[in-house]
Amino acid sequence: MKAVYYEEFGPAEVLKIGERPEPPLKADQVLVQVAAAAVNPIDRRLRAGELQDFFQREWPIIPGWDFSGRIVGLGENVTGWKIGEDIAGLAFDWFLHGGTYAEYAAVNAGAIARKPVSLSFLEAAALPLVSLTAWQALAEFADLKPGQTVLIQAGAGGLGSVAIPIAKHLGATVYTTTRQKNFDYVKGRGADHAIDYTACHYADVIREKEPGGLDTVLESLTHDEAIRNAIHLVKPGGTVAYMNNPPPDMPEIADKNIKTDFLHNRPDGEMLGRLMALYEKGALMRPEFEVMPLEKAVEGHRRSESWQTRGKIVLHVQDI
Ligand SMILES: NC(=O)c1ccc[n+]([C@@H]2O[C@H](COP(=O)([O-])OP(=O)(O)OC[C@H]3O[C@@H](n4cnc5c(N)ncnc54)[C@H](OP(=O)(O)O)[C@@H]3O)[C@@H](O)[C@H]2O)c1
Repeated sequence: MKAVYYEEFGPAEVLKIGERPEPPLKADQVLVQVAAAAVNPIDRRLRAGELQDFFQREWPIIPGWDFSGRIVGLGENVTGWKIGEDIAGLAFDWFLHGGTYAEYAAVNAGAIARKPVSLSFLEAAALPLVSLTAWQALAEFADLKPGQTVLIQAGAGGLGSVAIPIAKHLGATVYTTTRQKNFDYVKGRGADHAIDYTACHYADVIREKEPGGLDTVLESLTHDEAIRNAIHLVKPGGTVAYMNNPPPDMPEIADKNIKTDFLHNRPDGEMLGRLMALYEKGALMRPEFEVMPLEKAVEGHRRSESWQTRGKIVLHVQDI
């Protein structure tokens, strides 16, 4: 099968495209003919050699967790799924070898959901990782309620693009950071307050508007100041969901009884199915996305590294 893979850690250019064997199918997995795969920052971070202590690997590695496609094989323990069904899912695994930047992927049946007919394969592939992450952070971990306030950092990015509509769906008032040129985009997705982080200090703006503090911060930025600001910005009893790091060592966390953790997206086919239903009926707005052919995965990773993409990048793998 055709696949993108890498044989060593390094810059985007270590990605090669070529022939790889089809993945073997385990008992709890489905074999998927992949139509589309989304690029996520984690793909390029793993390729660059980050997080080596957390993952096991077998070289060469096909990157990618997000996908949409069609079931073409069923493991012996799989029930409730049929060959020919169109699905999307999050093929997360702590063992890296056979990802979704490929014509075929073997995926745990517990990680998939039916693709709504009204969504194209390209649209569906953009959704699993970011939607599950945002729902697990905002609805599950923060238990965000109507009338509460939330800061969603990097609102124009892949995660922000779905976290804003999810927070609005939960009834919250949304603050988000983005450059001015993306204000229409984030406001169109429901953000109540867009703050241009290049023109002012976002924390000052929020402190002025919410002197009592925010209920929740979805912190996806990686610099120290943002990591610490998140703790300063929430009210006593508030929640900070970190997307890239464990909570900082700050006495304020215990003093203010702040609930905080480093959250990692969790594959959950049932939850994804409920989210897909919300996208299908228009209760959640889908992210903008840019399509590239699988052959342009190097460019996709370079663009992701710019930290300036809006919405998602989706790789078109094959027409099915
Ligand atoms: N823990 C998890 O499970 C999980 C899941 C998903 C993502 N993440 C992490 O969350 C982060 C965001 O992911 P993503 O998929 O949204 O990435 P992304 O799509 O690559 O984010 C790009 C966006 O970041 C914005 N941005 C860049 N610098 C910014 C700044 N200083 N302040 C505010 N916005 C800024 C840009 O907006 P402008 O062009 O307007 O500046 C751009 O739209 C990544 O670090 C990723 O690793 C973690």
